[in-house]
Amino acid sequence: MARQLLDLIIEGGWIVDGSGAPRRRADLGVAGARIAAIGDLASSPAARRVDASGKIVAPGFIDVHGHDDLMFVEKPGLEWKTSQGITTVVVGNCGVSGAPAPLPGNTAAALALLGETPLFADMAAYFEALESQRPMINVAALVGHANLRLAAMRDPAAQPTQAEQRAMERMLEAALDAGAVGFSTGLAYEPGGSARPPELAGLARVAAARGALHTSHIRNEGDAVEAAVDEVLAVGRETGCATVLSHHKCMMPRNWGKSAVTLASIDRARAGGVRVALDIYPYPGSSTILIPERAELIDIRITWSTPHPECAGRNLEDIAREWGCGKTEAARRLCPAGAIYFAMDENEVRRIFQHECCMVGSDGLPNDAHPHPRLWGSFTRVLGRYVREAQLMSLEAAVARMTALPASVFGLQGRGRLEEGAWADVAVFDADTVQDRATWESPTLPSVGVELVLVNGSPVFSAGPGRVRPGRVRPGRVLRRAAA
Ligand code: ZN
Ligand code: CU
Repeated sequence: MARQLLDLIIEGGWIVDGSGAPRRRADLGVAGARIAAIGDLASSPAARRVDASGKIVAPGFIDVHGHDDLMFVEKPGLEWKTSQGITTVVVGNCGVSGAPAPLPGNTAAALALLGETPLFADMAAYFEALESQRPMINVAALVGHANLRLAAMRDPAAQPTQAEQRAMERMLEAALDAGAVGFSTGLAYEPGGSARPPELAGLARVAAARGALHTSHIRNEGDAVEAAVDEVLAVGRETGCATVLSHHKCMMPRNWGKSAVTLASIDRARAGGVRVALDIYPYPGSSTILIPERAELIDIRITWSTPHPECAGRNLEDIAREWGCGKTEAARRLCPAGAIYFAMDENEVRRIFQHECCMVGSDGLPNDAHPHPRLWGSFTRVLGRYVREAQLMSLEAAVARMTALPASVFGLQGRGRLEEGAWADVAVFDADTVQDRATWESPTLPSVGVELVLVNGSPVFSAGPGRVRPGRVRPGRVLRRAAA
């Protein structure tokens, strides 16, 4: 057999292939956008060779929970992804997505999570723009349920008429046929929170018929978290639609420990045949838009504010003291704004992560002036703190949760595993030093320990001199749902 000239050989590393199997010593050969060979490639001809001795060679990470929908236009470098080894992001989470655009006059505060770029008319237009823009990493997209409501309903705070329900279902069909992998709900936000079970079931049936899934920022992550989990599990059970519980957590000290109940509910649903998965970001604080009603309950740090941009990064308590008013009043004055809420138990986050179907989703908010550090550090934090320091699980098991598991949950074919013929999405990192550096105070510090990241065979990130430099062409692709 004539030996193919490989474009790149990553030599001498430990292959962690994404399946969870133990690491093995091998070279990895890339030809074009694909993995051409894994094995002893010492005598194979190649245009370039990179030494990865002692390093881990893994599939590129799949961030299952991103809000980068419009960043492909606004900040296409996506360094917060590539520097921690992420090669694919699923966007359109928490009920908000880059398309479809609202009817004139309709809006929702949660759309502020996305950025300033006008939304696209529909998913087909969004994907077209994305492709002509050339994303840095691969993108799979969910359609936001809030978008469907805002685009189909005259009064998005009301209940849909039959015609509006049908219109939402048709829009969802069109989005799935354009290649969206599913739809997301943000039941804790308006207008998604107005939805009742029949509306959600109607949409989930459309998704299930096409093999697509439903991800949910559930209605309540605090006092009523158990019922909120049961609500989305019921939608999955009734419709057969695969379900992902986004950024699962139990907020406020009085609710710490409730994950024992919610994870048991998930296990029961799975035992009954419902396809359920979940994700976490590895931090004890959450972040979203600023909600003044929470001001008295929890420690809050401001991430952005339209009327008071100078307050980004400051604690609400300090701002209120300086202004000589209460925290609720200060929060009202800061809105529209974003916030970090310190209301989770780190030990519980770690326990949830150990659930067998838990993935990692950064939930990063790249548009924030002083973002939650999860944007820059989620994946490296798992590898450094949860795997190396706390030894919650083997490195191989953790990598599987960042690669093969999400590829299978979201139906991303040829991704998430290192094997011959797969797309060459690769992360090379040092297991002894990989670590997040982003903190609450300095949230945009890049991670350390990630050495080289390939997307479809092309380097998008490399640490240190003398390595393969990122090219000028952005190599990411739109990952359309397989049947679309
Ligand atoms: Zn969310
Ligand atoms: Cu989110």
